[in-house]
Amino acid sequence: MKGQTQSFLEDLHGLFYFNAQDARDIMLRFHSEMGLGLTGKESSLKMIPSFVRRPKGKEKGSFLAIDLGGTNIRVLAVSLDGKGRAEPLAISRYPISHEAMTGTGDMFFDFIAESMESFFKEHQIDAKRLQGLGFTFSFPVVQSSIASGRLISWTKGFSASGVEGEDVVELLTRALKRRNMGFIEVAALINDTVGTLVAKSYANPACDMGVILGTGTNAAYPEKTGRITKYKGPRHPDEMIINIEWGGFNKIRRNIYDETLDRGSFNPGEQRMEKMVSGMYLGEIARLIIMDMVKEGLLLNPHIHHAFSEPYRLTAEHLSLAEQGQFFNELGLIQVPQEDREIILEVFRLVSGRSARIAATAISAVITWMDKKMDSSHVIAIDGSLFEKYPNYRENMEAMLREIFGDSAGKIKLEKEMDGSGIGAAITAAIASSPWDKSLIARLSSLRCR
Ligand code: BGC
Repeated sequence: MKGQTQSFLEDLHGLFYFNAQDARDIMLRFHSEMGLGLTGKESSLKMIPSFVRRPKGKEKGSFLAIDLGGTNIRVLAVSLDGKGRAEPLAISRYPISHEAMTGTGDMFFDFIAESMESFFKEHQIDAKRLQGLGFTFSFPVVQSSIASGRLISWTKGFSASGVEGEDVVELLTRALKRRNMGFIEVAALINDTVGTLVAKSYANPACDMGVILGTGTNAAYPEKTGRITKYKGPRHPDEMIINIEWGGFNKIRRNIYDETLDRGSFNPGEQRMEKMVSGMYLGEIARLIIMDMVKEGLLLNPHIHHAFSEPYRLTAEHLSLAEQGQFFNELGLIQVPQEDREIILEVFRLVSGRSARIAATAISAVITWMDKKMDSSHVIAIDGSLFEKYPNYRENMEAMLREIFGDSAGKIKLEKEMDGSGIGAAITAAIASSPWDKSLIARLSSLRCR
């Protein structure tokens, strides 16, 4: 390897690596932002009350759920046996078209209603026999009750017009009415992180965090109601799940590639941590580094670098395939010399490794917020393709946890919770339909949180 290339890679290491001390600094800043968010002060962590507690495992019945927030919408009918078992009776996925993502709000919500109609037909389900709808909408939404909330701003490339600032449950209800499904009542509106936490804790009460590491990233945890000082409602029950919206965390050092990516993104200045961690951006960060190396004459013959010249052409999936030894052929890069392949792979590892280390640091911050001295064990439910499929992602997270906590890291269990966001929506609909919660929800319906 040329000396120049070597020194470029060493610099890159410096830019992308952070040690346990850096992680602890980030955790302190995370705590300070969490505190501000809970009191309703200016903070990059929105700390959104979800108006829902964790389930008791006894919720029962058959519920409908919609899970929306990535590249597909999923519609599910879920049966809850009241003994901690939640089973999908039917499930379908419908890819969200570019038009629905970026057209008008009506087009977007009509697409959801159409998908539901297809689902009922496909599975010959009589929607009237299901007990209520749980709607997972995985964007920053300020909730004013368990079944209402306004979209603050789109993330992950969505931009349907006329939705920001509006109550998404109202928009969905109108679309359902347009297709003669006005009888379907949205019982609960939740974030995917809340769904993941709820789904896992239905069967395992030790679970106290839901995390998404996929196209976007975020987490939710149960907070003591008394600590949510911006929340003016009743103090019972004494816990409420908080949607942190950690993708927005901005007290974290960025490097030149992060800044370049942000400037070229559809929402500059926003979702800073998400842009360093989530699947939507990892390929683009790697691509910017590789283009820099090509420009410096450190990598690739000029006639093959076009594979890296188009923004967002390189995806997290490519990175993941490459780390499994596959992707070079796929992008027509079969001719790339071995040495260049190794350099490219090193770049990919640095980018994905940093993502995993930041994710583990953020999880550590939330755990120590709940349990300062790490007295208890913690089960963390995680959904999303990075955690599920990316080679060594979990191992990198676990290594960071060990660096931060030493032996106590053994108290933290990272557990896959696949499709939890949809099942969690059904369970939340059941919680919302329980007589006790119904009366509480009625009392809360006029409440507003910042
Ligand atoms: C959204 C969150 C969501 C996360 C994971 C982010 O872009 O702001 O609400 O939980 O993606 O889907």
